[in-house]
Parts: sequence; structure tokens; C-alpha cells
Amino acid sequence: MTEVIEAVTVVDGTGAPAFIGDVAIDEERIVEVVPREGAGSGLVLAPGFIDSHTHDDLAVLVHPQMEFKVLGGVTTCVVGNCGMGAAPFPAAAAMGAVLHPGHDLDPWDGYRGYLRRVDDTAPSVNVAALIGHGTVRSSVMGLDDGPPDDDQIAAMSRLIDEGMAAGCVGMSTGLTYEPGIWARTEELTALAAVVAAAGGIYTSHIRDEGSHLIEAVDEAIGIGRDAGLPVVVSHLKAMGEPNWGTVAAALERIDDAGPAVAADQYPYTASSTMLAAVAASGRIGTLVTPDAVVIASTTDHPEWHGRSLAELADRLGVPGDRVATAVLDAEPVATVIVHSMSEDDVRTVLGHPGIMVGSDGIPSLEGHPHPRLYGTFARVLGRYVRDLGVLGLEEAVHRMTGRPAEVFGLVDRGVIRPGAVADLVLFDPATVVDRGTFDDPRQSPDGIVGVWVNGARVVTDGVHLGTRSGRALRRRGERVSRTGSASA
Ligand code: ZN
Ligand code: CU
Repeated sequence: MTEVIEAVTVVDGTGAPAFIGDVAIDEERIVEVVPREGAGSGLVLAPGFIDSHTHDDLAVLVHPQMEFKVLGGVTTCVVGNCGMGAAPFPAAAAMGAVLHPGHDLDPWDGYRGYLRRVDDTAPSVNVAALIGHGTVRSSVMGLDDGPPDDDQIAAMSRLIDEGMAAGCVGMSTGLTYEPGIWARTEELTALAAVVAAAGGIYTSHIRDEGSHLIEAVDEAIGIGRDAGLPVVVSHLKAMGEPNWGTVAAALERIDDAGPAVAADQYPYTASSTMLAAVAASGRIGTLVTPDAVVIASTTDHPEWHGRSLAELADRLGVPGDRVATAVLDAEPVATVIVHSMSEDDVRTVLGHPGIMVGSDGIPSLEGHPHPRLYGTFARVLGRYVRDLGVLGLEEAVHRMTGRPAEVFGLVDRGVIRPGAVADLVLFDPATVVDRGTFDDPRQSPDGIVGVWVNGARVVTDGVHLGTRSGRALRRRGERVSRTGSASA
């Protein structure tokens, strides 16, 4: 059955100028794109947004309607970022216990089993998976902080090979978290070479996003060069006021490295992560003050959610320099929001050609999540495109669609053209805006009029229809070239 979306402003995801036209869908695919004369409805039809940086590996199974993403126009989530992946199961389940307490999952076998589980569950978004280096490492080495021996490298390589053969798009690392923090460059290069041989990419939450940002970017670029695969620097930023402005030099390094090196970004001046990682970095009291660190989620202390460490110091009667330790004693896996970036840097990075958009939202729905989980894409389109003019509409859409499709090797996605899969979003460029705030984060954006996933309508006028037409997207063996676009 054919559905025609009429008289819309087509922004096709390639970066090409918008035009008024009609777009016809038949089953899963776009079958016709026809320009038309005269005025359109004013609504923009774009490819569905590809969230290039998520932690939704298990959320797509336990919250399959994925309201917090699809109501914001997202049709594909790249999962497995920051070294945290969905297999092997026992290590992945440990992440599930933190993010989704009370939801028990039946085990799966490797990435083949995980991707099949995604297909069987049929969430409302598509899923492309990265292999998590940290998950692989802890499965093989536990909490061993030394370098792996040859047998351990071989065992990790086998797990990575399984993931790539199953259709994963690459491997991620999280080098400020245990166990990634213990991995030396040689280990990462050796394992990245396994990914390279299978045609995948390397994404990295780099070793330092503060005073050693440039060295950390250089390490990621060097791993890509030595292992022979494309690189994505995750959530590019500079944390701590003394480091503000250094993103410009980081962008220069990325540009100089050529088209095989990319980066993603979320459009906010606060980060969100594990309190344990922030405390271990020694930044509280040096680069960030206790009032800039706000509890986002805990296991047993909902009354702490939304409170800063400064407030909790008062409440618990402990000095400011010991409050993080006190909170961690009670809540070892607490997550926090850290207000530590500059608005100028956010604009510098977002204004830079080619930077992709990724929410990095932590789907801890019971807690007090960072509003980026819901609002990232609408915020770019509303605040940074329409209100501030940091980048143009066609360029912004490209960085949310065609560009990540190319970087992650998602064939026939991220563009509007006959033959492409009908992952689509219809929005009002005059009103689209994020609504979540740090005090009241769980708000879906305004202005998202329609969302289609694999040709089926999932959202109408901001309402989820209950449709679950998403599936796992598997890398089809196309080798992503180091010199530019996917070879498909
Ligand atoms: Zn990260
Ligand atoms: Cu992340």
C-alpha cells in the first residue's frame, strides 16, 4: 500500500538544498520523490535521526517503545558506546542491573544472540551495535588492571570477531572507566586491528577530556592509523574552565587526520556519567565544584536525585571534600550530571562541518536523567539552527542522518531518495524545540509531527501509536574506506 506525504519541505539528508515535494512510501521503502510547484505545508520531511551515541543496548529490550527517543524523531540508535556493550551476556547484565533495576533479562549468546533478541523484541527504533571493549575485557580479564598476555588478547579477539561476524558496526572504548582505563594503547591497537579486518570502525570515549584533551585525541587518531580503520571521537568537549577553548585545537587535529576521523557531540554544557569515574579523576574541587555535580540516579536513594553534592554535604553533615566518598559508599553506581563545559565550546564544535549529533543519554528512566536523553535533536534544530543560526538546517539534518549512516556503514539509511528505507521524521521548523530541563528532564520535544520507522508510522502529532517496526541493522560486510564514504 502506498502512502504519500504531500507538499512537504524535503531536506534529504545529503546536505543538498531543501525543496517542496511529495514523498511516496510503499512497504518499507521510499518509492518516489517528486518536486512540486507552489507553497508547501511548511513542515520539513527529513530522514529519521540516527542517534550516533547511545547507551540504549538494553533499553530497547526493556522499554521497547523507546518513547524517549522516537518522540524526538530518532529512528536508529547506535548502541554499545563508551566501551559498554551488550555481550558477553553476564558482563552486559551487570550494566542492566545499574540502568534498569528490576528488569530481568533472559541470557543471550554473544552478539549474534543479542541482535536476534532485538529483532524478536521489535522495538520502535532500529539498532546498530558497537562491540564494547570494556565489556569484552572484563569478560576475559575480570578487574585485572595489568596488560593482557597473548592468550588474553586471543580470547578478546575471538569475542570481537564473533561480534563483527554477527553484524556489529565496530568497537567502542571508554578510557576513563574501569576496565578501559587500564588498557594501554598497544592493547587497543591490537584489538582495533581485529575490527579493521572485518570492516568496522573504532569509536572512543577518549582518555582525557580535560587538561590532556589533545593527547587523548591524538591517541584515538593514532589507533585508527596503526590499526587501519576509521575513528569517531565520542562526545567531543573540554571539561573544566581552564580547558575551555581547547576544542578548537582538537577539531584541527581531527581535520588534519583526514576524512576517516570524525566526532560526535551532544548540545549541552553539562555531561552525565558515573559518579565513581568523576571522583576517581580527582576533578571534584579542582576542575568542578561540588555544587556543579548533581545526582542523576541511585539504586536506593531517590531523595538524592536532582541534589548537588554541595547540598548533600549539608544534608549528610560531611565536609565538601568528602561528600563524593560518602555518597559512593552508599551508592557505588550513582550517576551524576556535571555542569562543566562552556556554551562557546558547544557552538564551536556544533558549528564545525561534519560533527555528528549523539545524545549520549543514559536511559535511567526511574532517576533524574540528563535532558539530552529526550531532547538532543530538537534542541539542535530549535535552539542552534533556528534561534542562534550556528548552522543551517540542511547541514544540521545531514549531520543527524546521511553523515552517521555513512560513518557507521548503514546502507540505504539516512537519505530521502527512491529505494532508500523509509525511516522518516516530519517536523515543524518554526516550533521544534526541546522541553526538558535539568530540573524537569523527562519531557519529549515539541514540533515533531510524524515519525516512520521502516515505512511504518510510529508517531503522529507527538503521540506514540504503539507501532514497533524497528530491528537490528547489521553491517553487510561493506568495508568502510579510510578515505571517505562507505564503499556501497
Ligand atoms: Zn562516554
Ligand atoms: Cu556514552
